[in-house]
Order: sequence, then structure tokens, then C-alpha cells
Amino acid sequence: MSTSTTLTINQNITKYIHGYTTDEEDRLIRQSNFLEPYIYNNDVDFSNCHHIIEVGCGVGAQIQLLLNRWPHLQITGVDISESQISRASEFLKPYIEAGRVSVHVSHGGKLPFFDESFDSALICFVLEHANNPLNVLKELKRVIKSGSNLYCTEAFNAGLYVYPTCLAFQNYWEIFNRFQKELNGDPDVGIKLCNLALNAGFTEVTPGYIPIRLDDRTKDISQRANLIDWFVECILSVAPILIAQDRVTPDLIEEMKQEFHWLKNNQNSIFVYPLQQIKAVK
Ligand SMILES: C[S@@+](CC[C@H](N)C(=O)[O-])C[C@H]1O[C@@H](n2cnc3c(N)ncnc32)[C@H](O)[C@@H]1O
Repeated sequence: MSTSTTLTINQNITKYIHGYTTDEEDRLIRQSNFLEPYIYNNDVDFSNCHHIIEVGCGVGAQIQLLLNRWPHLQITGVDISESQISRASEFLKPYIEAGRVSVHVSHGGKLPFFDESFDSALICFVLEHANNPLNVLKELKRVIKSGSNLYCTEAFNAGLYVYPTCLAFQNYWEIFNRFQKELNGDPDVGIKLCNLALNAGFTEVTPGYIPIRLDDRTKDISQRANLIDWFVECILSVAPILIAQDRVTPDLIEEMKQEFHWLKNNQNSIFVYPLQQIKAVK
């Protein structure tokens, strides 16, 4: 299949909570850089793979990190959104021209590849947006070779903990998560990954817990700011639509920003956002 092939997608396109603006595309690149040391811990290893697939590759931010870490890899990325794939084609242009990367528009639940085409698979912050995450995992299992690994990292929003209580944020977070569910997403899909992978037919499934955590141990103010700013930027990407739909007010957003400013600057505060990661073997 040629680079950036646009395929007919017969399934319903899930509405994507973060939207497809240029700002959001840029945010995905900043986010992947910030989270790189968390996501690519020692448990994730593609050193014995040749050709891997990323489903829900967005603008190609993870693909770039993967190529830096494992320069021998050939990577195929797919995403349901034409605009994400168009940006990925620009972002990854040198790699695409060198024949190391190809990107395609495709629903993760119906991949345009033969069985056992890939040596491994990556999925990162996608199943929370998919209306049928089980189908996506089944499809991934079909296209990877027997004995190969799937690495999947997802959110578990119900696991978030903030001290002291921030009422404006609590309010916003409840509305944010309800909105994602209304879009047929699952903000807690991360905690269900083991069950989903087993149901999809993977044999061995190993859970991993990635605690993104701020407490009194982090004294450096810029480190504290980086963590809080990453999270606030992520949740604020949804604010314009929540305001437009009268679900939240600009005043609530301002109050929430003040709360996070306080958390960032007060050593006594605690912020824990646990990502969930699995390694599953076909
Ligand atoms: C938060 S972004 C993550 C992008 C990339 N994995 C990263 O970490 O930078 C989620 C992406 O999943 C895509 N997506 C959502 N549902 C999908 C589906 N069913 N099949 C393929 N892509 C999907 C969205 O279009 C979006 O680009």
C-alpha cells in the first residue's frame, strides 16, 4: 500500500474529545516528549522487531520517539482522522521518503493489512476514544505475528488524586469525563486493559502502572510546573467545546487554573495521575 493511502472507512467515526485543531496537533507532540520517560520504561522493548504498527498514531509523535530509540525499525502508523495523517505525513516526511515509515487513514477496528504482517504493536491513548476497544485489540492481534507483543498505554481517569481538594477542578473533571462517555469513549479504559486483551485472545498479559506523581519530593519548581502544565494543557484542550455547549463557564476555568497554580507552587500538595500500561503476548 502506498504512503498516506486514504481508505474507505465503513465504520462510524468516533467523535474525538480533543478535536482536530492545529493547536491540538502541536499539543500531542509536546505531550509525547513530556511523557516519553514514563511510557518508554524498561518494559517496552522493540529491539528484536523489524516492522511494527501503531494504531491511533495521531500526528506521528510516538513514531518519531520510537525511531529515535530503535533506529532500525520500520513503522506503519494508522489513524482514523485524515487531518492527523496529513500532519503526520509532514511531520515524518524524511522518514517516509526514506521508506522507513508509512501512514494511512484507517479505523483501528478494521485494519487494511494481512494477518501476521507485523512484529509488534503499539497503542497509546487511543482506546479511551474508541467506541469498541475490544474490536481494536482483536484487529491488532490479527495483524501481528504469533509470539509477538502488544504494548498499550491508556488513561485511568478515576484513579486521579489531588490534595488538597480543588473544587473547581473536581467539578470540571466530572463534566470532562461525562462528556467523554457521551462521545462513546471510556476515560477509565486503562484499568480494563488486562481483561480486554485476554478477551481479544492475547495469551500472557502483564499489567504495568505508570504513576505520574507530584509531592514534596519534587522541589524543583520547573519540574513541578512541567508536570502540572502538561496535565492542565491536556484537559484544557476540551474547554472550548465545553464552554460552547454551556457545560462549563469561563469563570470555572479561571478558578481551576488558580487551583493548579497553587498546587504547582505548594510543596504540600499531592497530584497523582496513574496511567495504565500492558504488555500482551499473542
Ligand atoms: C490522544 S491521540 C494519541 C495519538 C498518538 N498515539 C500519540 O500518543 O501521540 C488519539 C488518536 O487516536 C485516534 N483514534 C481514535 N479512535 C480511533 C480508532 N477507532 N481508530 C484509529 N484511530 C483512532 C484519534 O484520531 C487520535 O489521533
